[in-house]
Order: sequence, then C-alpha cells, then structure tokens
Amino acid sequence: MENFSEKIQSLRNEYSDLDLKVDDLNSNPITQFTRWLDEAIETKIYEPNAMVLATVNENTPRSRFVLFKNIVNDNLIFHTHYESPKAIEIFANPSVSGIFYWAEIHRQVRFQGKAIKADAKISDEYFKSRPRGGQLSAWASAQSNIISSREDVTNRIEELDKEYEDKEIPRPDFWGGFSIEVNYWEFWQGRRNRTHDRFSYKQEDTSWKIERMSP
Ligand SMILES: Cc1cc2nc3c(=O)[nH]c(=O)nc-3n(C[C@H](O)[C@H](O)[C@H](O)COP(=O)(O)O)c2cc1C
Repeated sequence: MENFSEKIQSLRNEYSDLDLKVDDLNSNPITQFTRWLDEAIETKIYEPNAMVLATVNENTPRSRFVLFKNIVNDNLIFHTHYESPKAIEIFANPSVSGIFYWAEIHRQVRFQGKAIKADAKISDEYFKSRPRGGQLSAWASAQSNIISSREDVTNRIEELDKEYEDKEIPRPDFWGGFSIEVNYWEFWQGRRNRTHDRFSYKQEDTSWKIERMSP
C-alpha cells in the first residue's frame, strides 16, 4: 500500500497563467470582491459563498464554515444561532477573520474586520426567504449543544411543523445575521511555479491603500 505521507506530499497542482496586476484592481475592495465572487458564481463553483470564519475564544482561535449571504452598506452578512459558540465569541470579542477559496479559478480572498449583530430587518428578510425546512430547523436546533441522537432535532421539527401548520413561521429571536465591517482585504491569484500574485487593501481614513505582497 502506498505510504500515505508520500501520497499527500505528492499532491501538487499547477495553477494557471491568469495574472493580477495593480491596474486590474478596483480601488474599492468591495467592488473587487463582488467582481471575483461573480466570476466564481459564473464558473459554477460549488458553494462559492462558503467562507471560513475565524473567531477568538479568549486566547483560542476557532474557525468554521458559514455562508456569506449579502452585502449591506459594504458590510458582509452571514446568519447563525445567536447562542452558538461563534456568536458568543463575537459578542465578547468582535474581531473576526474570514477566507473564501475558489479552487477552480485559483483564487483566495481573505479579510479581517469587526462583526456586530445585523439589523433585525436584514435577519427578518433573509429568514422569510428561507425554505420552510430551514426555518423549522433554525427553531429546532440549539446549535452546538450536545444531543443524544438526531431524533432530538427531527422530532422537534415534526412538532413545530404541526404547531405552525398553515401559519407563517416567525424568526426566532435567537437566530439572525451578523454584519462584518471589513478593514483589511487580501486578494490572491494562484500562478504557475508558485509565482502567485497577492495584493492587500488596508483602510486609511476614507481610502484604501493597495500593496503587492510577496507570494
Ligand atoms: C459549507 C458550510 C456552510 C455553513 N454555513 C453555516 C451558516 O451560514 N451558519 C451557521 O450557523 N452554520 C453554518 N455551517 C455550520 C458551521 O460550520 C458550524 O458547524 C456551526 O455553525 C457551529 O459552529 P460554532 O459551534 O463554532 O458556533 C456551515 C457549514 C458548512 C460546511
């Protein structure tokens, strides 16, 4: 049997000849981000809006995937349970960091910023747009609590389904959006022979300073 370490070490992909020059970048990182996300969507990448979100629990970093769902007033929005570990961490320390990776087009976008609870209106609108199953599971899941079996959740969903038969399901107070104000962005374009292009955007009063970084 093949040695597993060798197998992992031999994984090697060449990236493309796509390049990224400072002149290609929009002076506004949100515009640059939406342009790249749109290209990822058009490329039919699976879940291009999935992002790793890192929070800080006292001194311990913790990360997990969430789905980026909107941009409102230049802030990035995602939704979650307000009593989940990630939410508790954000309420205690709003500093977050996130990453999108679109492997098929060899691109990574990294950001850092501060997260706050989103306006109830943003959460209500999104909750309304969710399929009924997603609305019921938001009610039924005490996210990240230890449970004895999946039936704990599925039985609760069945109960709620009956309770709300023929009724609109309201958004639970304990579920909604966070809004991330980003103060640092990084755009990475993978290239042949590891000569990747990387640019950072740092916020300076009312403008953004763009700098090329070594790969
Ligand atoms: C692709 C993907 C997308 C996800 N999107 C969300 C999301 O938008 N909101 C959410 O609360 N959890 C989402 N999850 C689940 C989280 O990764 C995580 O398991 C859960 O939120 C609990 O995290 P916490 O214990 O750190 O609070 C997603 C998982 C995956 C794999």
